[in-house]
Amino acid sequence: MEQTGGGGSAASQKTATLTDNETGDQLELPVLEGSLGPRVYDIRKLHGQTGAFTYDPGFTSTGSCASAITFIDGEKGQLLHRGYSIEELAENSDFMEVCYLLLHGELPTREEKAEFESAITYHSMLHEQMLYFFRGFRRDAHPMAVMVGAVGALSAFYHDSTDITDPHQRMVASHRMISKMPTIAAMAYKFSVGQPFIYPRNDLSYAENFLYMTFAVPTEEYTISPTLARAMDRIFILHADHEQNASTSTVRIAGSSGANPFACIAAGIASLWGPAHGGANQAVLEMLEEIGHKDRIPEFLERAKDKNDPFRLMGFGHRVYKNYDPRAQVLRQSAHEVLDELGKRDDPLLDLAMELERIALEDDYFVERKLFPNVDFYSGIILKAMGFPRSMFTVLFALARTVGWVAQWKEMIEDPGQRISRPRQLYTGYGPRPYVPLDQR
Ligand code: CMC
Repeated sequence: MEQTGGGGSAASQKTATLTDNETGDQLELPVLEGSLGPRVYDIRKLHGQTGAFTYDPGFTSTGSCASAITFIDGEKGQLLHRGYSIEELAENSDFMEVCYLLLHGELPTREEKAEFESAITYHSMLHEQMLYFFRGFRRDAHPMAVMVGAVGALSAFYHDSTDITDPHQRMVASHRMISKMPTIAAMAYKFSVGQPFIYPRNDLSYAENFLYMTFAVPTEEYTISPTLARAMDRIFILHADHEQNASTSTVRIAGSSGANPFACIAAGIASLWGPAHGGANQAVLEMLEEIGHKDRIPEFLERAKDKNDPFRLMGFGHRVYKNYDPRAQVLRQSAHEVLDELGKRDDPLLDLAMELERIALEDDYFVERKLFPNVDFYSGIILKAMGFPRSMFTVLFALARTVGWVAQWKEMIEDPGQRISRPRQLYTGYGPRPYVPLDQR
């Protein structure tokens, strides 16, 4: 079957009939079948033919696009990028290769990989004028606030890659974003701790360069641990793309109006920031610290189950996975490797996390609702051990997800059937009423 992100998956002759039981009106809906995944009722003609809308807040039953990039089977706990399983990619591949795969649809040959890495490396510096942007922020600004601002500002600096109708400019913009994101993220960190910015080095790999820009200081030699660089690279792979989640949908919606790619990615970063999405890894660590000791786990589990208490077990549950998040499985293993390398095998937070996981997975509430640990459950522990402050956790997620956002944005722009995203609503407000003058209110 042709792998396309274009305006619809393979059309079939199958149909489903929608009947309005009040009016008796009937509408035949085409049934689309993708290469994998459930059947999809095509409701595109629904409004035109019946005047009615569908209602699906939170889009729990809505496919917003056709895409050939990433596939998730939440029941099986399966995640595929262009058909390759995340477990195999995390084990055998590296982040640059995964970036190429997401953007181009195939694993690169040796030559293609070298060419791609060189293109990404070539763009890693920031326009020197952009440094003033960082200096305009308060030192205590959250680095995600800095990221939203700095990434949005890229469109003010790279005018030669904002024409979305030009395929070459689209590719240059994609490379620029993947390449500059580590530089921006490291600078956001350096600014927050009052250390000098460290310029990128082209002789280092993507993950090494990011660790170097984040943790090196001009006064000392910085040695990059291969284990930590590998763990960093793996974290990037595991966060690279995740189908039509909130931030990716935000990027697509922003891009559907023809906005430039830098502005669209800034919108994605804003969406990722929230604690129900990318901000959860920071929230997991805060929660573990609040729990403090294994003895208090039952108390917090009770709170998580209590509908009158806003507390939720952070790092548990997922809109799509109703089984173990496959990324969490890989990260669980990585957490041990990193803590071993750093001599922090007896880390009390990891201990607490393991115990919490064990108890929650035996608890009826979590079992019945299929609430398993998600990717954020372990990433915070690893990142903390590597020396990242909590406020940087979501920044790292944004850095890694940039390639997914860019690939999905590009797929959308190249889709001939693409139209501006414009959902409708179920209006519940007043009907027309006469204006009341101020002195009569
Ligand atoms: N702790 C306690 N109860 C939970 C939790 C949780 N973490 N997650 C879901 N539930 C309950 C929820 O209260 C509901 O119970 P009931 O049926 O009795 O009303 C049931 O499970 C179904 O949950 P839902 O709210 O309908 O699920 P959702 O798909 O709307 O939300 C979620 C998914 C990820 C926002 C939610 O599970 C959550 O808030 N988890 C904690 C935050 C978190 O770890 N987020 C990271 C997501 S993975 C990274 C990413 O992709 O960004």
